[in-house]
Amino acid sequence: MKKNKISKNWINKQHRDIYVRKSKLEGYRSRAVYKLEEIDSKFKIFKNSYTVIDLGAAPGSWSQFVAKKVKNSKIVSVDIKAMDKIENTIQIMGNFNDNSIQNKIKENFSEKVDVVISDMAVNTTGNKNIDSIVTGELSVEAMNFAIKMLKIEGKFVSKIFMGSTFNEIVSLAKKNFKETNIFKPQASKKESKENFIICKYLRKYGK
Ligand SMILES: C[S@@+](CC[C@H](N)C(=O)[O-])C[C@H]1O[C@@H](n2cnc3c(N)ncnc32)[C@H](O)[C@@H]1O
Repeated sequence: MKKNKISKNWINKQHRDIYVRKSKLEGYRSRAVYKLEEIDSKFKIFKNSYTVIDLGAAPGSWSQFVAKKVKNSKIVSVDIKAMDKIENTIQIMGNFNDNSIQNKIKENFSEKVDVVISDMAVNTTGNKNIDSIVTGELSVEAMNFAIKMLKIEGKFVSKIFMGSTFNEIVSLAKKNFKETNIFKPQASKKESKENFIICKYLRKYGK
């Protein structure tokens, strides 16, 4: 391995370790929390936002962050995997792609919601192209669901990958939201194709 490649790997590892260490010190279940923290600080997602749906929530750091940040919030956290309890959140265990799970989420709200966040990602197969396609499909499904669930002034944040579904997601976002931004937080590993899409304000109520 060349010298500059070794030092790049070393810097990346150090970078990751800083967030891992910080999350342990601050009592968060995953370093992923710092991606959401950066997104929130730049795009003001949780200002006056009380009802939040967190898709792909396990192990739970995003939900922990929202529960801490938003007083009197109602958070519904969804994942295929089981999660340890988080105070002030309602947890639903199941596959978000199932209609029955989407209906269970809806049953928790009597009106439209303020924010939908999605960090859903499939378990890696080792093939980065397949992973990014499948995770991309999850982001499209999450956006379509968010369009139906959000208030007109609602916000949607989702993990997306630079890959074959990227253009589809961005054009769906621009068609349905007044503001669309793509952002890669510092806490997101440089070598990852991961980015986040941040959408605000529906053009019209979704059905
Ligand atoms: C990167 S992790 C999320 C980390 C989380 N945001 C946190 O802060 O702890 C991605 C999660 O997406 C979940 N996931 C993947 N596909 C899903 C699906 N179809 N329905 C629900 N959850 C899914 C995985 O089980 C995994 O826990």
